[in-house]
Amino acid sequence: MSKIYELTVEAVEAGDIITYHPMKLANALRIKDVNRLAVETSVMGDKALVTIYPHDPLARVILADPQMLVMDDRGRVWIGRYHNGRPSMLRLYDPASGSAQRLLLFGTTGAGKSTAGQIILAAMKRSGIAVLYADLKGGQSAPEAYGQTGPGADGNVAWRVTTQEGTMAQLRTTWLTMMDRQERYARLGRSKFLRDRPDPLIYQIVDEANRLLEKGAPYRDEATFYIKDIGRTGRSLGVGIGLFAQAGHLEEMGGSDTLRAMLKEGEVILLRWTSSMMKQLVTDGLLPAGQILAPIPKYAGEVDLVSQFDEEHTDDDRPGTQGTAYNVNGRYPTSKMRFWNIGSPIPTEGLDPMVLDLYGPGAPPEIEEAAWDLIGDAYCQRLDGMEAYRAVFPEPEEDEDGEGGGGRKKGGGAKAAASPVPASQPKPRARTLRDRVQAVLDAHDDPLDALQILELVNADGGREVKLGSVRNTLTAIRN
Ligand SMILES: Nc1ncnc2c1ncn2[C@@H]1O[C@H](COP(=O)(O)OP(=O)(O)OP(=O)(O)O)[C@@H](O)[C@H]1O
Ligand SMILES: [Mg+2]
Repeated sequence: MSKIYELTVEAVEAGDIITYHPMKLANALRIKDVNRLAVETSVMGDKALVTIYPHDPLARVILADPQMLVMDDRGRVWIGRYHNGRPSMLRLYDPASGSAQRLLLFGTTGAGKSTAGQIILAAMKRSGIAVLYADLKGGQSAPEAYGQTGPGADGNVAWRVTTQEGTMAQLRTTWLTMMDRQERYARLGRSKFLRDRPDPLIYQIVDEANRLLEKGAPYRDEATFYIKDIGRTGRSLGVGIGLFAQAGHLEEMGGSDTLRAMLKEGEVILLRWTSSMMKQLVTDGLLPAGQILAPIPKYAGEVDLVSQFDEEHTDDDRPGTQGTAYNVNGRYPTSKMRFWNIGSPIPTEGLDPMVLDLYGPGAPPEIEEAAWDLIGDAYCQRLDGMEAYRAVFPEPEEDEDGEGGGGRKKGGGAKAAASPVPASQPKPRARTLRDRVQAVLDAHDDPLDALQILELVNADGGREVKLGSVRNTLTAIRN
């Protein structure tokens, strides 16, 4: 009963593709617990490796050392393992092309999305990635992923928000940071992002993204715009996006178009799903052709006929399969993997010290200071709710000469479904500090020193800026 059997299967005719039904295969092999069975098919689909384990090989998946979460030199983090003990890796950065990734983590309720999310967030902190994290479950999804209160403060992510309005403020901030980088990099003559030279990799993560994107959600259209645009443009600017969602149907996620591109080109992880979602992924051709993913049952273990000689099965409680997933872009897309089982075995009161250990102490990486003047108070003061929203989408009358451009919110009520950016229209570019400094220089023929420029810039009615920022901008203009 303790042996592992491995069978190699080949298609009879050249060119044939091996297809199988996981349950039927288990049945034919007289295996009652489908978790004991692992099937891997070759890329061509003409060969398969069938492994039969004595027990569920993914029952215990333990992270030996949080250091294992640090990104490797190929931009991948180690999120868990496969049945055969091999590591399951998630790419957060592609050093060859200098690009950030698009992450999608799907699963039904209780499948382990937020726990998997904490592993990814902790890996990001340890890897020097600045994270803007929106938890639309009011902060309950990953309480240990608490945000900084301001620059330099302790925290596990750079900025956490827990409201729809805060999420919109984050999306806008991420988008503005991206625009700022686009302009700066163009000036430097750079065609691609170079990690930490000088800017960090940034990720915008939305947990419970379905609440933001489902039909009837107050900011659905605007959020869709930002997510699409960050997904499209952010890659080459070191700005990635990740959505964790519980979705029965792609339509619930801001329309299927929003996600189609992300799914096609992104890093996709499927935790336990609903059948309608999976059907859609298959019919839309979003899953690798010809690959069948065995459903992930809610519980592991045999369903019936427990032998009295089988000592492992004396306990009536069947273990859950939370955290079991298919890492669609990983090394073995058709093999189940399981995320590390993190946290204390028994729920703790307050923040779980074992989860906090994953992140490690101290301040997390932050958005580069070069962008602070442009992105403004919502980020710099780490605001949330309507306050954050108003800071990035000011009322038209508060709109200072194009500063914070695109502010177009109608009505001031907290419940108003504001439209910060009409999804169909290009948005005006926010005025940067460079624009303001340039305006001052253009208006003065006589030479000015940095202090005089600072005074004139601060007198133009825009956001108050510091001498250091003006100096940096002057250097940038001179180059
Ligand atoms: N890799 C894992 N190994 C073992 N247990 C896990 C794993 N991942 C999650 N769990 C357990 O499963 C339960 C649900 O996990 P989690 O809250 O992450 O799911 P979720 O998909 O975010 O659920 P919800 O839809 O409620 O937000 C938790 O009690 C957690 O401890
Ligand atoms: Mg959750």
